[in-house]
Amino acid sequence: MKGLKGKRVLITGASSGIGAGMAKVLAREGCHLVLHYNRNQTGIKQTMKAVESLGLESGSKVSVLQCDFKALESLPKFFDQAWSVFSGLDGLVNNAGIVSKVTALKDPFGKQFAETLNINLHAPYQLSNAFAQACIDAKKTGAIVNNSSIHGQATCEWFSAYAASKAGLDAISKVQAVEWGQYQIRVNVLAPGVVPVERTDAILLEPEMAEKWQATIPAGRYGTTEDMGEATAFLLSDASAWMTGSILTMDGGLIARGNYPIR
Ligand SMILES: NC(=O)c1ccc[n+]([C@@H]2O[C@H](COP(=O)([O-])OP(=O)(O)OC[C@H]3O[C@@H](n4cnc5c(N)ncnc54)[C@H](OP(=O)(O)O)[C@@H]3O)[C@@H](O)[C@H]2O)c1
Repeated sequence: MKGLKGKRVLITGASSGIGAGMAKVLAREGCHLVLHYNRNQTGIKQTMKAVESLGLESGSKVSVLQCDFKALESLPKFFDQAWSVFSGLDGLVNNAGIVSKVTALKDPFGKQFAETLNINLHAPYQLSNAFAQACIDAKKTGAIVNNSSIHGQATCEWFSAYAASKAGLDAISKVQAVEWGQYQIRVNVLAPGVVPVERTDAILLEPEMAEKWQATIPAGRYGTTEDMGEATAFLLSDASAWMTGSILTMDGGLIARGNYPIR
């Protein structure tokens, strides 16, 4: 991918799922990676092992950092550590997130709502601000990819908190893109559809459920973590140099279709 080799990139939430898929694609492309995790030590070790083996061919280097984004006050130190690993960063992928499913009436005081917003929205907002300020101070360009969701655009029952966090992420990405265009700091959104990951495998790979989704998704299949990695590589690379403030929806056509009965 154009201009990607040697770029220094922080990926949050790389211990499983989409973040691990992104790490593998970016390692294949020769990026130097700072991989973040929270609790899943086994998962981050697996990602690191895969990335190190890809790096033998591509020259990619890797380092790992832990942080719990529930503790927002720990973000400045976390970011400073990530920035210093390779003496600067060229890219930030805000991928870490939680999928909270609860009906609004079961969360009357918004406890789960607030926690979801902290991890999925406040944390990426603050990390992006820190990244942009560091790039401006260092007089360098940068690219941010915010991993949102189709729930930012079209949602359903149980997802008040999740959809609000992702719609908010879409919104701040546009504002930050506008504010930081003058510094050549790009901010784009990846909006994945349904992508089976370790967390969801038991449900989504169950044959009846898989059949239902395959019939609903125009492309006839789920997305893969590698699909998301390839899109992220594009958004970080010079192939998307004039793209900022955009939402790249990757969902096999799911939300383009609308809610019409299947003919
Ligand atoms: N899979 C899908 O179908 C899909 C679709 C649309 C969007 N997304 C988005 O993709 C992103 C990754 O999700 P995934 O599906 O790949 O799920 P996942 O495998 O559960 O990955 C979530 C990642 O976020 C990290 N994380 C969770 N809570 C955290 C906290 N308090 N502080 C810091 N990091 C935390 C996890 O770290 P530890 O496990 O190490 O604690 C993990 O690395 C999320 O933003 C999600 O909304 C997923």
